[in-house]
Formats: sequence, C-alpha cells, structure tokens
Amino acid sequence: MVINRKIQTLDEFTIQQMRDFPNATGELAGLLRDMGLAAKRVHVEVNKAGLVDILGDAGTMNVQGEEVKKLDIFANNQFMGVLRHGISCAGIGSEEMDDIVVFDDEISMQSKYVCLFDPLDGSSNIDVNVSIGTIFSVFRRVSELGKPATKEDFLQKGIKQVAAGYVIYGSSTMLVYATRRGCNGFTLDQSIGEFTLSHPDIKCPETGKIYSVNHGNFFQYQENVQKYITACQQKTKDTGGPYTQRYIGSMVADVHRNLIKGGIFMYPSTTEKPKGKLRLLYECNPFAFIVEIAGGKATDGKDRILEIQPTEVHQRTSFFVGSKLMMEEYEQTK
Ligand code: AHG
Repeated sequence: MVINRKIQTLDEFTIQQMRDFPNATGELAGLLRDMGLAAKRVHVEVNKAGLVDILGDAGTMNVQGEEVKKLDIFANNQFMGVLRHGISCAGIGSEEMDDIVVFDDEISMQSKYVCLFDPLDGSSNIDVNVSIGTIFSVFRRVSELGKPATKEDFLQKGIKQVAAGYVIYGSSTMLVYATRRGCNGFTLDQSIGEFTLSHPDIKCPETGKIYSVNHGNFFQYQENVQKYITACQQKTKDTGGPYTQRYIGSMVADVHRNLIKGGIFMYPSTTEKPKGKLRLLYECNPFAFIVEIAGGKATDGKDRILEIQPTEVHQRTSFFVGSKLMMEEYEQTK
C-alpha cells in the first residue's frame, strides 16, 4: 500500500506547530483536537438531519429508543463534553447557555484556556439541508491557575484571542482555525475520519466581487449602509464590478465563501435591532480574528471589532467583515 505522506492531519499539524515553541505545554493543541473530535460527532449527526422522520423528531424516541435531541442542543453537549473532559479548558461560554460554565475539577482548574462557542450557527437552515456551522474563540485566562475561571476570563477584548476557528458542515465538512501564526483549513477526510490540511495559510483576497447582506432589511439600515449597498449594485466593469449578492443566512457559510473568494459580509444594525443581531463574543470576535489574520478587516461599522471591550457574554453588535479594500470602500461611504 502506498502511503501518501503529503497528507497532514489536524493533530499532526498542531503538534508540529507546537514543536517550534520550546515552552509550549501542548494544551492548545489538545483543545483544538477536542474541538475537532466534537466537530466530527456533530458532522455525523448533521448528515442524518434529513432522516429525522425515520430516526424520530426532537423530543421523541428514535428507533433505538434513545431520546432525540434538537441538533443545536446535541452540538452544544458535544462541544461542552469534550472540553469538560479534556485537559485544556477551564470553562466555557455558549450561545445555548445563559451563563458561563466553570469546570471546577482539579485538572480543569489548572488549564490555561477558556473557550466560547456557538455550537450550531445558522440553525434556521438545518431543516432545509443548507450549510450550517460551529464558531469558537479561545482566550488565555487572566485569573489564577488552580482556581476556578472567572467572568473576566471570558470578557476580554477580541484582540486577546489566542485562537479562533469555525467548522462548516457543507458539501464537505471543514475546520478552519487561526492563531497569530496564520490561518489554515482542514477538510474532513471521511475515509480515515480525520481533518486533513487542505487550505494551508489562507489569505483573504484584497478585494472581491461578492457582497453578503440581508436585503430584506434594506429600509431599516442607516443611510450610509443603504448607500454602500446601492453602490455595490451599481458597480460596472469600469468600476471593478459587476458585484454579486450572495446571502445564505448562515454566517459561517457566507463568511467562509468570502474569505476564500474575496467579498464583504454585513449584518448592520436595523431599526428593529439597533444593537445588531450577531453576538460579539462567539460569532463576531472569532471571525474578526480569523479574517484579520488572513489579511482582511472587521468592524462594527465604525470601530474595530477586536478592540471592543465586552461587558456581557451574550452582547450583540453590528458586524462588517471581509476583504480589506471592500471594507475600506464601505468605510468611505458617508
Ligand atoms: P440562527 O443561528 O439563529 O439561524 O442565526 C444565524 C445568524 C447568522 O449566521 C446569519 O448570518 C444571520 O443570523 C441571519 O440572520 P437574518 O435571517 O436576520 O438575515
């Protein structure tokens, strides 16, 4: 049998990266491995979503007599479970839970990281077989090791993230994560059950032709946002266009596409949602970090997302993220 040595798994990659740092403890590599494991379990379940009539609806029993959980609760339990049982995480914050959860066993209290995540983003797309995702953010604790993690560990500015990533459950399942050293993408090779490096050193194109926004809210946006969207629609060959509008309603899928192809994603505030819809800590911060590491930009329409001082775990913000030149074009629209 010929072994393809070009294949590098997520574990191999993170361990190799760690070797460059003599003082590294391997905790971050362990945490990323844990996230990969949970993602694989969610991948299996997501791929069964269309079989819900056969396997049972949420709240009912499936054919094996097990209670069927809603997919977002299932995903939350998987990510929480691997982090709780791993050795790298002292506590979590999740979209699915009102408050942070601190792991207060002896091993977890020695862990130097905390993790925030949205276990299943784009949940309105689950029932219609459209891509959904998981988003996560990792911080080094500011509280004392050996003691329980505190809220301050979670309420750090996005700029302090040590790593951030997402999983997209799409035509294939991919895990993308960034650290200060770069952004890399791994595709799940189902034949060996491993995430393998498929998109090394991802760079967001400086500009692109895709803009992603919910047009249905157009008349609720502020004037400068309306002007920018109109300018996108008016782009001609002579002004770098024409632009294309693409909006799935799963930020993971929308931002992933724009990260690879070049584009801008916007979820502005609306008259109905003056603070925006998306969550700063486990939706916007991770994507802002990933896209900035890849060379793009992310703001709340005015200020850099990564500089916002959070005050609560489920805080919302308006969000603009994407290719550097497109973001600058938006910023110049008055
Ligand atoms: P949810 O997980 O509740 O479906 O929210 C998805 C988020 C984000 O992923 C997406 O871009 C946005 O909400 C879509 O919101 P609109 O339907 O308001 O455009």
